[in-house]
Amino acid sequence: ARFFIPGDAGAVAVGADEVATAFEAAATAKGLTLDIVRNGSRGLYWLEPMVEVETAAGRVAYGPVSAEDVPALLEAMLAGEPHALLLGSTEEIPWLKRQTRLTFARCGIVDPRSLDDYRAHGGFKGLEKALALGAEATIEEVVQSGLRGRGGAGFPTGIKWRTVAATEAEQKYIVCNADEGDSGTFADRMIIEGDPFVLIEGMTIAGIAVGATRGYLYIRSEYPHAVARMEEAIRTARAAGYLGRAVAGSAFDFDMEVRVGAGAYVCGEETALLESLEGRRGVVRAKPPLPAHKGLFGKPTVINNVISLATVPIILAEGAVAYRDFGMGRSRGTMPIQIAGNVKHGGLYEVAFGVTLGELVDEIGGGTASGRPVRAVQVGGPLGAYFPRALFDTPFDYEAFAGKDGLIGHGGIVVFDDTVDMAKQARFAMEFCALESCGKCTPCRIGSTRGVETVDRIVRGEEREKNLVVLEDLCHTMKFGSLCALGGFTPYPVISALHHFPEDFGATTPVLE
Ligand code: NAI
Ligand code: SF4
Repeated sequence: ARFFIPGDAGAVAVGADEVATAFEAAATAKGLTLDIVRNGSRGLYWLEPMVEVETAAGRVAYGPVSAEDVPALLEAMLAGEPHALLLGSTEEIPWLKRQTRLTFARCGIVDPRSLDDYRAHGGFKGLEKALALGAEATIEEVVQSGLRGRGGAGFPTGIKWRTVAATEAEQKYIVCNADEGDSGTFADRMIIEGDPFVLIEGMTIAGIAVGATRGYLYIRSEYPHAVARMEEAIRTARAAGYLGRAVAGSAFDFDMEVRVGAGAYVCGEETALLESLEGRRGVVRAKPPLPAHKGLFGKPTVINNVISLATVPIILAEGAVAYRDFGMGRSRGTMPIQIAGNVKHGGLYEVAFGVTLGELVDEIGGGTASGRPVRAVQVGGPLGAYFPRALFDTPFDYEAFAGKDGLIGHGGIVVFDDTVDMAKQARFAMEFCALESCGKCTPCRIGSTRGVETVDRIVRGEEREKNLVVLEDLCHTMKFGSLCALGGFTPYPVISALHHFPEDFGATTPVLE
């Protein structure tokens, strides 16, 4: 029987390596050798380290397991006896069963180091389809699927590819943005650590579709496990003929490499990322020109988020219609939602668009970990709006969130209980912007520092009414005068905190319209 102990950084952080060592030791003591697979995480993080064992009736899960539990647990597993940590059949765990896993179909299931396992679970079917369809029809398939950029902006992926395909150049590039910097997000990391070949497949399909022969995967330095996993996967794929000259025996060449960031949030912004890839400081470039026309080293470049590219193989394999059937309005398919913060059941929940924020927080997330009432939820990272309970009926959908002055961003939601001080959160947004600003434009560089001071004055009660007007005016200037989303979106958490939680700013009535 195979044993599965996640090698995912989130599981390792809570002791998965020690659990793996303890299993080996316990087995050795019994004169046994175990077949241990270090899989990706299933995304049920409150149950990590979650250990699974293969049985005649499918995989059975136990968790959260600590190293001390292991000797008795192994005993029970071998004897087929019940154990207090038994969770039952993995696939039947309701939290997992209720999901629609398309992008994450293989994550936590396969051995992320094994190309054979990848193939056995449907890997490279999308690539085969793309090779059979040819470039134009592949792009059309992605357009028809309705897939939109999962980095946050939601621009249609197929249209972006078409722009690059239509731009003449002797060299084009595919850049994958894995500078996952939003608070409470980990979907990119999980897929890279748990199913790295799907990203290689997605980037290769993009290369074939637009005529690019080189790819760069820009991973943030805070993800050392992901960097190591990806570099190994690239070597494995190359050795098997899936990267390099004549990809999978076709007429196309495509190869890729990993580049590691250096800790700047703004390098997740596409043009700053390009500067960084080219070896310069991560400073935002003005658009136009769009990277699709003039990107890396001045050449037409597709820049997509990890999740966008990792979703392409299943779209090709299953067809655009199958993907498009999920979702609501103009938000088609599924979204890997990352539930984090003060929440009982935190983790990755992939589901069709349309699920409400309330369902995500109260039912799926199970409320707060502290057991206190939920007061606010920040959706879409540090630049996303704070939503109060009154807005919990908002469906997860790009347009619905925009309609409530928020954004779904990269799909991260961070839960806060009733002890949160929203004035502090508003101050933090400005402080974060001041720290991370690339310094190119004035509203962001200077506005954020003035923002911190102004929030402080309001909280101290200094000329409160006047400073509220100043803060509102400042937010307006940052929103409309900033060059990129960092300065431009910082007003969202600030204004939403003020608007929905005025009492934390020393007011008894709503302060802003
Ligand atoms: P944007 O709306 O300017 O562009 C979106 C994408 O579409 C870009 O790649 C752009 O080059 C491309 N594009 C636009 N028009 C095009 C055309 N006609 N043809 C081809 N391509 C075209 O948004 P931006 O500034 O790139 O991203 C802002 C978003 O990033 C925010 O909505 C926010 O949610 C998200 N974000 C995500 C973070 C993360 O960690 N994933 C962190 C911070 C922000
Ligand atoms: Fe740089 Fe901020 Fe301007 Fe963006 S908004 S270009 S991060 S100074």
